[in-house]
Amino acid sequence: MAVTRTFSIIKPDATRRNLTGAVTKMLEEAGLRVVASKRIHMTRDQAEGFYAVHKERPFYNDLCDFMTSGPVVVQVLEGEDAVARNRQVMGATNPAQADEGTIRKTYAESIEANSVHGSDSDENAKIEIDFFFSPDEIVG
Ligand code: TYD
Repeated sequence: MAVTRTFSIIKPDATRRNLTGAVTKMLEEAGLRVVASKRIHMTRDQAEGFYAVHKERPFYNDLCDFMTSGPVVVQVLEGEDAVARNRQVMGATNPAQADEGTIRKTYAESIEANSVHGSDSDENAKIEIDFFFSPDEIVG
């Protein structure tokens, strides 16, 4: 399996509860390495741009409100088959449906405040990494 990269966000519900370290520990224990990380307060423009694919969905506006409601930690993760590995440790979008031992089952508050984002394909991982990081900020 090839070593690849994915993009992760520790969302405002998790930073608010001081879970940055706890979430990162679960990512690391799943075999992912943090090769870039920064704590930011997303602007409305950034949130709307990042989630543009969901623009027509009923939850879009509330999602953008939530993602700008507090600090987030954006990260680049590296590991074998990083996208799938990260999706597995994240768990299902709705924490009520997430498997035991996943980040969302352990920490998420709701389908919206679900603690983490993770890219869903290698192609989107590249787009999302480029959205928040310049190449010199990633140290593998
Ligand atoms: P999605 O890409 O479907 O899920 P995932 O984060 O697991 O890749 O949705 C993006 C985010 O949109 C999701 O993490 C939380 C929010 N969302 C809602 O608030 N309500 C919903 O009904 C759905 C499907 C998503």
